[in-house]
Amino acid sequence: MRAVVLVGGFGTRLRPLTLSAPKQMLPVNGVTMLERVVTNLARGGVTEAVLALGYLPEVFQAEFPSGEIAGVKMHYAVEPEPLDTGGAIGFAARFAGFTDDTFIALNGDVINDLDIAGLVAQHKAFGGEGTIHLTPVEDPSRFGVVPIDAEGRVEAFIEKPPADEAPSNWINAGTYVLEPSVLDRMPEGEKVSIERAVFPDMVADGQLYAVQRDGYWVDAGTPESYLKVALDLVNGVRSNEPAVAADTTVAPSATIIGSIVGSGAVIDAGAHVEGSMIQRGAHIGANARVVTSIVGPNALVGPGASLEALTVVGDSVTVESNSVHVGAKLPDVPKE
Ligand code: GDD
Ligand code: MG
Repeated sequence: MRAVVLVGGFGTRLRPLTLSAPKQMLPVNGVTMLERVVTNLARGGVTEAVLALGYLPEVFQAEFPSGEIAGVKMHYAVEPEPLDTGGAIGFAARFAGFTDDTFIALNGDVINDLDIAGLVAQHKAFGGEGTIHLTPVEDPSRFGVVPIDAEGRVEAFIEKPPADEAPSNWINAGTYVLEPSVLDRMPEGEKVSIERAVFPDMVADGQLYAVQRDGYWVDAGTPESYLKVALDLVNGVRSNEPAVAADTTVAPSATIIGSIVGSGAVIDAGAHVEGSMIQRGAHIGANARVVTSIVGPNALVGPGASLEALTVVGDSVTVESNSVHVGAKLPDVPKE
């Protein structure tokens, strides 16, 4: 089986971390988001994949120069301009020659344990042009909402409906099985949204099906969900990976509670780190406090500084000693 992985977005909601690295290249407990996604594809029988690249494509190629991730042969398709989700799938599938057989397409920022092979089997049984994986969420307003009938046929695809107007709590979980005929709905070089144009057209033609699966699922595209997806790997919610890299320097009087500390990081005396992610090479000064926050690679949090409530510190940024930040982005970035 072959797959198109969408990784070309700007990662706006994760700025400033995504000013220097695309979202899917951010670490999720020491392993890039992309590698975690491709590992699950491999488990589901995918042997070849193409990255639909737009923003900072060279960062991907530099990190995976062998052209292979988790045993999956990778192609790199770089869009001349952002083609939106549908245009990007069409561009990348044609680039890699995935035009003659059923293929997977997926959002590269979704972390889950979906049984891909099972989804493909369901798709074959439905016999439509496309099958979408659905997951239940409390607030569907920031997702694609997908009501289905008793046979699994999609009744409507409503991307980001206003709060309280969603007809269902089952949303598009971002993994699709598609027939090559869907490429005809994505004309070459044209900007088109799969969620706002291609899927609604397929619904109108009765060609779109969906499968509801209630397993572990997180879209890691916001500071809150990105932090959660990483911490869930070390706090037993999803697994119990080691939370602190082997080569860190942690002062005996520092306290680290329910947090991830990346390779080469330094935590000085009296510092308090709780429910947070300290990325590789970052330095937390004496008596600083980092709670429910993310400190980017090689950043320096000055002595006595306090970060809380999803404060995000960018790559190599220095946070002033004794300064206080609540829900801040450092440096500040314009709102979405
Ligand atoms: N190549 C390329 N070009 N990739 C893109 C582009 C583009 O122009 N625009 C977005 N992407 C990529 C992003 O990098 C991401 O991997 C994926 O497409 C989805 O974009 P997001 O920006 O993360 O979308 P979202 O999270 O708001 O919504 C999407 O995901 C939800 C599930 O997580 C939609 O598919 C929703 O319907 C869905 O519920
Ligand atoms: Mg997303």
